[in-house]
Amino acid sequence: MGDIKRIGVLTSGGDAPGMNPSIRAIVRKGIYHGLEVFGIKRGYEGLIHGEFQAMQLGSVADIIHRGGTILMTARCADMKTEEGQYEAVKQLKLHGIDALVVIGGDGSFRGAQTLAGRGINVVGIPATIDNDIPGTDLTLGFDTAVNTVLEAVSKIRDTATSHERTFIVEVMGRNCGSIALQAGLACGAESIIVPEVTFQIEEVIRKLLQGHQRGKNHSIILVAEGAGSAYEIGAKIKLKTGFDTRVTVLGHLQRGGSPSAVDAVLASAMGGKAIEILLSGASERMTAYVNREVVSLPLEVAYGPRPSFDKVLYDLANELAI
Ligand code: ADP
Ligand code: F6P
Repeated sequence: MGDIKRIGVLTSGGDAPGMNPSIRAIVRKGIYHGLEVFGIKRGYEGLIHGEFQAMQLGSVADIIHRGGTILMTARCADMKTEEGQYEAVKQLKLHGIDALVVIGGDGSFRGAQTLAGRGINVVGIPATIDNDIPGTDLTLGFDTAVNTVLEAVSKIRDTATSHERTFIVEVMGRNCGSIALQAGLACGAESIIVPEVTFQIEEVIRKLLQGHQRGKNHSIILVAEGAGSAYEIGAKIKLKTGFDTRVTVLGHLQRGGSPSAVDAVLASAMGGKAIEILLSGASERMTAYVNREVVSLPLEVAYGPRPSFDKVLYDLANELAI
């Protein structure tokens, strides 16, 4: 078990469904193995300001099915400064914390890396709806977000069909088109627009007109936020086709909701793995889902090159949407 006796856990960056079951796993497995576990509120903001709370088995009761994060989360500019990092380490030492689990995206991992550079054992758990962290096939929250988009689009499709309208639906993902691609394929979108593939609005319009000619009375176009504004795309389509066009920006509803079974299981497995990593004495690691297995990788993998966009799936989606 090495020298690790007391650990901290925090959630940082954008929240993601799966953070809660992950916290639960860390607390329960940590206590099972004789560790003391402290929750740190509001990510690095709370760390720097000493917002620590001792976690018991009951502290994580009734949260496995809840979206968001009971520890709350924040974006903290101070953590990017030398002073902030110094304060963070000071607080960890003051509270006798030997190791820290950081649940968040690659930015949060960079914060963890700076703490490792100052002698703190750290493990990262990848959690963001964007699924944009190198090294892991899945990040916590992605599966739930895709299912949320799917549910929303199927409702939009009902009204789109009834009114014979073209809908442009904008989804999140920052610079990554994974949510748009997966949800777009799953809902049979007529076009999927992602930042990874250069798109021509003329081609989108050509497909719309072609569909119209063979009697299609409605269309759904999914746009990843990183690829451009759905409002601008919608305006161009309306201008060139004259079709009755509407825009829906799904926004933050994609970040909420109960974690899907995939996310709840993955979150539990990654939380458990994080404890195993710390108990083995390792540090500067991240948990990752690779080939249907939860594994440990060097934290720095998260800042490496992104895996190439799934062009095969993208091309298939286009072929199926003729
Ligand atoms: P995510 O973790 O989802 O990628 P952010 O990029 O907003 O989200 O990062 C979350 C937080 O992690 C930031 O608000 C900051 O506190 C910390 N952080 C991000 N980048 C760094 C960095 N280079 N050095 C130290 N801390 C960082
Ligand atoms: O990283 C998760 C994410 O939801 C992105 O998809 C989106 O671009 C961003 O966070 C939104 O950030 P905020 O909640 O700060 O508006």
